[in-house]
Amino acid sequence: MELINKERLWETVHALAAITIEGKPWTRRSFTAKYNDGREWLKNQMQDMGLEVEVDAAANVIGRLIGTEPNLPSIVIGSHTDTVPDGGRFDGIAGVLAGLEIVRSLKEQNIQLKHTIEIVDFTAEEPSEYGLSTVGSRAWSGNLTTEMLTYTNADGQSLAEAISFAGGNPEEINKCLKEKDEIALYLELHIEQGPVLLNKTANLGVVTGIVGIQRFKIFVDGLPNHAGTTPMDMRNDALTAASEMTLAIERIAGKKYEQPVVGTVGVFNNFPNASNVVPGKVEFQVEIRSISEEVIDQVASQFLSEADSIASRRNVGLKTEKVSRSKAIIVRDEIKHLLENSCRTITDKVIELPSGAGHDANQMSLLAPVGMIFIPCKDGRSHCPEEWAEKEDLYLGTKALLNAVLEFSK
Ligand code: GLV
Ligand code: MN
Ligand code: MN
Repeated sequence: MELINKERLWETVHALAAITIEGKPWTRRSFTAKYNDGREWLKNQMQDMGLEVEVDAAANVIGRLIGTEPNLPSIVIGSHTDTVPDGGRFDGIAGVLAGLEIVRSLKEQNIQLKHTIEIVDFTAEEPSEYGLSTVGSRAWSGNLTTEMLTYTNADGQSLAEAISFAGGNPEEINKCLKEKDEIALYLELHIEQGPVLLNKTANLGVVTGIVGIQRFKIFVDGLPNHAGTTPMDMRNDALTAASEMTLAIERIAGKKYEQPVVGTVGVFNNFPNASNVVPGKVEFQVEIRSISEEVIDQVASQFLSEADSIASRRNVGLKTEKVSRSKAIIVRDEIKHLLENSCRTITDKVIELPSGAGHDANQMSLLAPVGMIFIPCKDGRSHCPEEWAEKEDLYLGTKALLNAVLEFSK
């Protein structure tokens, strides 16, 4: 019996991807009107299928198919519908829409499961304009603190206000907190966002673990001054100091450690950003990722101490702020086996691999066993407009996910 409708799944992905900022494909930043439009589309799909639909206090969108034993903990299938700026068509939405296709198929075929299945579009998985990522899944795991709700964007609007705009209720964020026994299993399908599956000519990947991520905000305070009259040896240039710090993280993360590690400066703001002014202030962000928590700490402490000495040598002020930390996770053996078997009934081109990208699964692992299936993406590229996955791979991955749900809920 063919449960998953390949064409329908593909069409839904492109229908949601098409809800993008015009002229800037494929962009649906969290907490924007476009994001809300995409989620309205999603809620309509859920309602039309007869799911129970809820938007919780963190603005997570949840579609529920009630099981025959509603007191059992639920199976959650989730991911996200926000994108990075100039993002792709598959990151996040592939996982949400695979979940939707699974429940649609189950309903169509009148297959009733013991467990309630919840399809969740977690709010703001990507780093938002408020500096925080995995906002919605943090609310479930208890890692969305009151302090984080006060984080602001460049216009001074708070994350709490943004959550309200997205349909949530920040005052009641604690209501999102899940008990450890409420969720039996969390599953997420995702594009790999890297080249490993392609290089190994595999169709499906079973994720073995997900990197932890440490993010810092760095504030460098120099002295703004006239660029024509201030001699080179009398400057306190915030930008040259910040540039040296940026090169330092590249060098430190590029060294050999027990486990691979990456360090990136992806946000960099120079003030006042005028050609004839010695830069007075720079704010930038550093993120460090590894599957090893110890390695993250080693790289972070080397970077912070080097940034300190660069600031002293160049006579500029330095303030560093931890923005967020998500812990690395290792997928449990029994879940890897469940997914591996589910994949192998469909294709023998299955490998195990770790995830260098962060996911809502990191937060969900604090609440339940988690498992992820990866599908290949063209040229191993993601977080760019060219991001692409093949229809067949999306179909195979969704079938594998469904197999896992059926097996787990037997
Ligand atoms: C999410 O895409 C991340 O890894 O930052
Ligand atoms: Mn992403
Ligand atoms: Mn993603």
